[in-house]
Amino acid sequence: MLQRSILRPYYVLALVLCASANDDFDWTKNEKTSFYYGTFPTGFSWGAGSSAYQTEGAWNTDGKGMSIWDAFAHKKGKIFSNESGDSSCEGYYKFKDDITLMKDMKFNHYRFSISWPRILPSGLKSEHINEKGIKYYDDLINMLLENKITPIVTLYHWDLPQVLQEKYGGWQNASMVNYFNDFASLCFERFGNRVKYWITFNNPWSIAVEGFETGEHAPGLKLKGTGAYKAAHNIIKAHAKVWHTYDMKWRGKQKGLIGISLTADWGEPVDITNQRDIEAAERYIQFYMGWFATPLFNGDYPQVMKDYIGRKSGQQGLGASRLPVFSPQEKSYVKGTCDFLGLGHFTTRYVTTKNYPAGVGDSYFADRDLAELVDPQWPDPGSEWLYSVPWGFRRLLNFVKTQYGNPMIYVTENGVSEKTLCTDLCDDWRVKYFKDYINEMLKAIKDGVNVKGYTAWSFLDNFEWDEGFSERFGLYYVDFRNKNKPRYPKASVQFYKRIISSNGFPNQREVESWKRKAVETCSSSNQLLAADPLIGHMEMVTEIVVPTVCTLCILLSAVFLMFLLRGRL
Ligand code: NOJ
Repeated sequence: MLQRSILRPYYVLALVLCASANDDFDWTKNEKTSFYYGTFPTGFSWGAGSSAYQTEGAWNTDGKGMSIWDAFAHKKGKIFSNESGDSSCEGYYKFKDDITLMKDMKFNHYRFSISWPRILPSGLKSEHINEKGIKYYDDLINMLLENKITPIVTLYHWDLPQVLQEKYGGWQNASMVNYFNDFASLCFERFGNRVKYWITFNNPWSIAVEGFETGEHAPGLKLKGTGAYKAAHNIIKAHAKVWHTYDMKWRGKQKGLIGISLTADWGEPVDITNQRDIEAAERYIQFYMGWFATPLFNGDYPQVMKDYIGRKSGQQGLGASRLPVFSPQEKSYVKGTCDFLGLGHFTTRYVTTKNYPAGVGDSYFADRDLAELVDPQWPDPGSEWLYSVPWGFRRLLNFVKTQYGNPMIYVTENGVSEKTLCTDLCDDWRVKYFKDYINEMLKAIKDGVNVKGYTAWSFLDNFEWDEGFSERFGLYYVDFRNKNKPRYPKASVQFYKRIISSNGFPNQREVESWKRKAVETCSSSNQLLAADPLIGHMEMVTEIVVPTVCTLCILLSAVFLMFLLRGRL
């Protein structure tokens, strides 16, 4: 992930937090480390998430078209170990087993995404609808509902049809707005009688910055300082158009909700008493979440983005800002187009100011004039960019409440990864991460933040984009070495299950006992997993060695018989 490249060692300072820092914000009255025992409001929705490219596999099966991620992952050198999502968790074939696991965990909802090229192989509704792809999602939705699990469906989790990238330049081109609207309309038409929660885009920050600025993600372009802003502009318009389409044409009948899922870190000023640090931290969040949330809730880009990018563009001698401009009509068109906000959150940064002179490596990052820092004390069990800082979650949730008029929030992603070769299912660090982050969310609800549901990321270990399978976020471990891709519960499954069944954290004694029990049960899963190479080996014996030996025996017997008969004649 991107943040790695920003975290130069000299930024990594030992930061000692001063306890008085909290006093400036009344929503942080509880100390950062205190635990709050209590339960969530009745009806709070619990679940876990996935996305099509990361889990489905079946990349060219049953008429599916190619996506930009298929094309990107098939190029050498783009993904860790040149892995791809070609087969991944084989979710396309195993969704029934997966729903059984979800049912056992008593999920209220499951978040997944629809692969656009699986149902529209050429990207265009006017050309060809792939009924087999539609059937897959029909079956998935139906089975979820039969098991009383509400589907929360993302329309775009990064897998644009490759044809649209090749022909039009993908999100650089405003024509995507209409194509995406056609695709979304088809989904409303075919699935909307059963799906009531729609998320237009997942993490548009990543689509824009990693797809068009750093090139770490598909389509892998490095259009520094312009590409990300242009992509984001088209994405915001596409979201708004889909919201209006639903509002005008489908809402009356289907009575669903349309939201977007924005992912953001929390940015904390290095020195809470220093005005320049406070402003730098504000810029960090406005360039992250505000970039998308402010147009959708308040009708335009954050003022600080307009000021900074405008000024830097001027210094570069450009006639206009590199940040596109919304016309007055567009402003009112995009404003108010979120029935709920999907929020993805994983980690936090300390932020201080840093001046990037114009003309030296112009980019989205330089536009922000800030430096990111981390506390080396923060645990970072998996992905390099992901430090466990639970208190940042509560602050981010409160920020959303105050900035955007206390919208309805569904946490659409929150979780932690582990490193490549970790096959330990006793993931006590993940248990701690979930326990503390979910607790901060509970505190935020007590602060008055309107959080309606929580989605652990992710249900299964899956294809972690440019990191391939080297970073595992799953509640369930997937053995990717075995072609059947068996799933094994980690300790966090047991722990999360108890949070769900108690709708929170009833009391200290009980919560402590959950931890103990979760860690106890995982040792038996560990043994099963350890036996798995044997199982794989046995499969090879039955599927390859036995038939080969039998065929050889038959051939040899035939030759032997021939010689025998010849001798007799
Ligand atoms: C956010 C993305 O939406 C998801 O696909 C990814 O796996 C997680 N971040 C973890 O990096």
